[in-house]
Amino acid sequence: MYRTHNCGELRLENAGQEVTLAGWVQRTRKMGGMTFLDLRDRYGLTQIVFDNQASPALTEAANHLGREYVVQVTGKVAERSSKNANLPTGDIEINATDLKILNPSEVPPFTIEDDTDGGDELRMKYRYLDIRRAAVRKNLELRHRMTMEVRRYLDSKGFLEIETPMLVGSTPEGARDFVVPSRMNQGQFYALPQSPQTLKQLLMVAGIDRYFQIVKCFRDEDLRADRQPEFTQIDCEMSFIHQDDIINTFEGMAKHLFKEIRGIELTEPFLRMTWADAMRLYGSDKPDMRFGMTFVELMDVMKGHGFPVFDNAAYIGGICAKGAAHYTRKQLDQLTDFVKRSQIGAKGLVYARVGEDGTVKSSVDKFYDQEALQALRKAMDAEPGDLILIMSGDDAMKTRKQLCELRLEMGRQLGLRDKNKFACLWVVDFPMFEWSDEEQRLMAMHHPFTHPKAEDIPMLDTKPEDVRADAYDMVINGVEVGGGSIRIHDSKLQAKMFEILGFTPERAQEQFGFLMNAFKYGAPPHGGLAYGLDRWVSLFAGLDSIRDCIAFPKNNSGRDVMLDAPAPLDQKQLDELALAIVKNDK
Ligand code: AMO
Repeated sequence: MYRTHNCGELRLENAGQEVTLAGWVQRTRKMGGMTFLDLRDRYGLTQIVFDNQASPALTEAANHLGREYVVQVTGKVAERSSKNANLPTGDIEINATDLKILNPSEVPPFTIEDDTDGGDELRMKYRYLDIRRAAVRKNLELRHRMTMEVRRYLDSKGFLEIETPMLVGSTPEGARDFVVPSRMNQGQFYALPQSPQTLKQLLMVAGIDRYFQIVKCFRDEDLRADRQPEFTQIDCEMSFIHQDDIINTFEGMAKHLFKEIRGIELTEPFLRMTWADAMRLYGSDKPDMRFGMTFVELMDVMKGHGFPVFDNAAYIGGICAKGAAHYTRKQLDQLTDFVKRSQIGAKGLVYARVGEDGTVKSSVDKFYDQEALQALRKAMDAEPGDLILIMSGDDAMKTRKQLCELRLEMGRQLGLRDKNKFACLWVVDFPMFEWSDEEQRLMAMHHPFTHPKAEDIPMLDTKPEDVRADAYDMVINGVEVGGGSIRIHDSKLQAKMFEILGFTPERAQEQFGFLMNAFKYGAPPHGGLAYGLDRWVSLFAGLDSIRDCIAFPKNNSGRDVMLDAPAPLDQKQLDELALAIVKNDK
């Protein structure tokens, strides 16, 4: 037997027992005639003591152990004289009577402790060592518990877990595909699924009624803290349902996860907000609802006072930061620099402080007298001690997005974005289409299979850009943790949708014929949703990036630095696939 116990389970009641543990050497310390060894495994850390007087040879061997050696230790559990309250096993230690080196280790490239000296790239390269650290391992444990609870919940609701293929066809729309060349069909390519969207719809046509899958999805898009090229969805679909049935089922799942994983009982229904309101009040389709600071439109209040920036603006909006009138000139200059950064791209920022006596002092006093400033204060519902921040621009949507960044930054600075507080929201009634400057045509905002709102269908021909969809996202703390829609189940409406998206009937048939054909054979009304598992886990773990809850993530350039992928192929492999590499000088 390699071990009688693991390194996290021995307690005071085990005192006197002879035990054998196996694990990794976290560190050794020599103190007087004693050598202390911290032995680590997945379950915890146990202190082993070697007494030079009792067994000089064993102690000598312990003194030569290096970090991360794999060892087996036998000894007797004893109560510690100086206990460590921070360690679950901190009341005991093992007085070693035997030590076996199972495998030595080279000196690890960074210290494998909670506070490590390893930088991001180094830890990614040696990810198997990083996972030995409790901080990383805990995230993987949390992920496991969450997927177990997801399966338990969905199983209890009658969902079947069904796998769909990873080698599928490339589909336009959405992000770029990762493609896989076919050896048996030379010159032809599979694509890795961006999501199992069409396949789960076919499962509805197949009568499966309630499907789910915890599934890898692949998207070749620019990476951010909440995006990985391969990520995991909790993908679901249901038949014979209305939008409310889906929202209730998956709100139920969210509440189940909050309760089982975080011990938080959410009894109230989640807030619902239309996309139009979210954009108007927060400048974002994923507003962080942990704090207020909603936008107030100030066109009437601020225009017509001779301040050219505002007089020429297509949008003027303000936010009121409660109790922030104490912001110094330097802090306000820093905020101005913040909104001028290239990622945000605003021209500037106007501020107004409400003094304790109620008078308002602004950065544009030259143009606004006290009466005008009081009108501003009234519009903003600002009280003494508050700070008003105003932005304007010639493109309303763009300016709202800039103001959104400022609001989030102010929320951060004022400590309103507590990671242990959760604000859940459904954003509903997304627009069906959005204009793409790059493609110079309308694109589906969610995807081309989304059902337009019944009352908006007549506008498909006349004003498609105003058509709303039966599409919804779940947003928690400003993170889009999931999204879905009711689907089109009528092949004629589906064909119309492709037409609006600029597909010729031939191309629609070529790309999506399999789906439109299936719809001819009795497709039930259906709809669904996919949660982003990585985002859920990182939200519950309080992580800044989803990378930290993925065992082997990619870096910001989409590389796996541990496997050194992607990498060139051998000529032999290229030949087999009938591929030639064209060098691009750029
Ligand atoms: P959507 O594209 O909105 O919908 O994706 C669903 C959810 O998946 C997560 N997500 C990501 N997580 C990490 N990295 C990424 N690159 C990434 N992209 C998306 C988000 C998102 O809300 N088939 C539809 C769902 C449906 O309609 O049922 C779909 O894929 O949390």
